[in-house]
Order: sequence, then C-alpha cells, then structure tokens
Amino acid sequence: MLKRGSKLSKLVWSIAQSCQLPIIVICLGLVLVVPLLFGHNYVTVNLGSSMHHDPTMELINKTEVIWQIPDSSKAVLFLAHGCHGRALNFWDRSINCPICVGLPEERLIALNALARKFAVLTISSRGTCWSLGEERQVVKNIIKWWVEKNNLAKLPLVALGASSGGYFVSALATELRFSSIVLMIAEGMFSRMDIREDYPPTLFVHMPKDRHRNRMIAENIQFLRKRGIDAQEIQCLEFPLTPDLLANRIPGLDQTTSVKLYELFRDKGFIDARGNMKKDGRQTRWKEALRESGVELLHESKFIHHIQEELNLAFSYHEMTSLKTDQIFEWFDTHMR
Ligand SMILES: *[C@@H]1O[C@H](CO)[C@@H](O)[C@H](O)[C@H]1NC(C)=O
Repeated sequence: MLKRGSKLSKLVWSIAQSCQLPIIVICLGLVLVVPLLFGHNYVTVNLGSSMHHDPTMELINKTEVIWQIPDSSKAVLFLAHGCHGRALNFWDRSINCPICVGLPEERLIALNALARKFAVLTISSRGTCWSLGEERQVVKNIIKWWVEKNNLAKLPLVALGASSGGYFVSALATELRFSSIVLMIAEGMFSRMDIREDYPPTLFVHMPKDRHRNRMIAENIQFLRKRGIDAQEIQCLEFPLTPDLLANRIPGLDQTTSVKLYELFRDKGFIDARGNMKKDGRQTRWKEALRESGVELLHESKFIHHIQEELNLAFSYHEMTSLKTDQIFEWFDTHMR
C-alpha cells in the first residue's frame, strides 16, 4: 500500500500505476529521471514515449480554445466535449492552465493523442451543450484559422465528439473536410442532413446498454453504408469496480481513499456481488453516502466529478471513455488522407 509520503513518492506511485505490467521496467527507468518530470502528470503510452499536458489557452472571439502541438505532428485532432463539458476538462492543471480540470477519461484521450503525434485542439461550447446553428460556423472558422496560423494546414484533420459533441462533429463534417471522425455515445444527426458520398468514414464508439441509442446507431451505420461511406462501431460494456480503480485512473486520488470509497460503495449496496454498479453514477446517492460516512476525501470538491465519471464509465450507459483509444487511433491512422 501507498505510504503517505513525499510528493515524489506519490509521483513515482502514479507513474507505476499508469504502466501496464510488460512495460513496468521502462517505468522503473522513468523513476530514475523523476526529478526532470516533477510537477507534471505523465502517462506512458508505449515504449519509451512519455507525454504530458502543456497546453496553450486562448480566447478567440470570446470562445475558449485550448491546444497543444507535439513536435513533428502527423495530424490534427479536434475534440468536442459533451453537455456541461468544457475544453478545460481535457487538460491537467498546470502552470499554463491553472484552471484546467483534467477529467480522467478526457485527459487520457488528449494524452494518448499527443503521444501519437496528433496536434490536439479543444474548444468550449458557448452554452451548456453545442448548438447546431451559428456555432457551427464559428467553430469551423476557428479550426481553419488555428490550423493555418500553426502551419498545420497540410496535415490530415480528424475529430472526436462525445454526446452533444458527437452530434456537433457529425454536422461539422458536412462543412469541414475531416479524414475520418469518431462519434462517441452519439448517433449523429444523419436523418436531418444532406449526406454526400464524400462524407468522412465514421466510427461509433458507444455503450449498447443504452438500447435506444444502440438501435439508432445501428440504423445510422446502415444509412451511411448504403451511401458508400465506411461506418463501423465499437461497443463498450460495463465492468466491475475494484478497490484500486479510482486511484489508478484519477491522478492525485490516493490508494487508501480509493479502497475506502470502494468499501463504502459495497457496504451501501451500490455495487453487486461482482462489483458492477447497480445504477448509473448519476443515479447513485454516493455523494450523500460519502458525506454521512465520514470517509475523508482530500480536496473533496476537486474530485467529485472525476469519481462520478468513473462510476458512470463502469456502469457504461452514457459517458466519455478512453478505454478504446487504441482502436480509435487505429481508425484515424487507417483512414488518413
Ligand atoms: C472573429 O470575429 C470576426 C468578426 O465576426 C471574424 O471576421 C473573424 O473571422 C473571427 N475570427 C475567427 C478566428 O473565427
């Protein structure tokens, strides 16, 4: 178990946690250069490549834009959040972005993209959700302007949008030339758009437990294929909570707290015998239970959204997910043009 020690030992711990067993040796190597890495949250995506968030934040015509461009980028990825989301959620708090939030799934998508040499552009919607009128034009202009300004216009452009962001990306794709797109937990706007045959290949990453959406996605895959457009799906299924899940996926949430939370959820009957969530995190009264339990959660308010997101993810009805990033980036990579 983790001893509450220095920040350094926490960092070592978090690096070790972010590693798969086969590359634990690489991680040990990383530990030796920890002083160089100090102060950042790192993820080791594949052998020898480590990446951290160091984004630039700008207001462009009152629209919040946060981005990061790795050396020798090979493509540009536009990420669109869901309702109640913001660009801030994709980025860890850092010197350049002290108000960034770094939600566990969003941050891993951005980190994985950067490690794979995608320049990452995130934009906040004006309202709670994306709107499909004027906002489409505004975002289109910002993407075009940003790509030109950063000399990235020659690179392939791809997009991933979740939920409201998925609808938005599906519509934006009729106006901007994307190499391919990923619609996460969203069926898209296809019935209401004029889809031409040059519409980009579309991958649906979704949670079939949401049966209504599952059916609409199946219809839209057929709709696109009939028009000769490559359309595929990846299904995300529920998985059990484990005592160390929250510590593994939320930087800064320690192992002891993670175990206590797991035990609380178990004792309160929020999970079944196998550890699966009985309800969506949003419908589980876990925050009330936490308050009554006396379990101390350091920086409580800071982690509420992070924990809630992981509970929703485990239940797998409607949540952003980074668990399919390998397949998602394979999709982007095999549809570059
Ligand atoms: C900002 O707004 C002005 C005026 O509406 C417009 O001409 C310009 O293209 C916008 N800039 C970007 C980057 O969208």
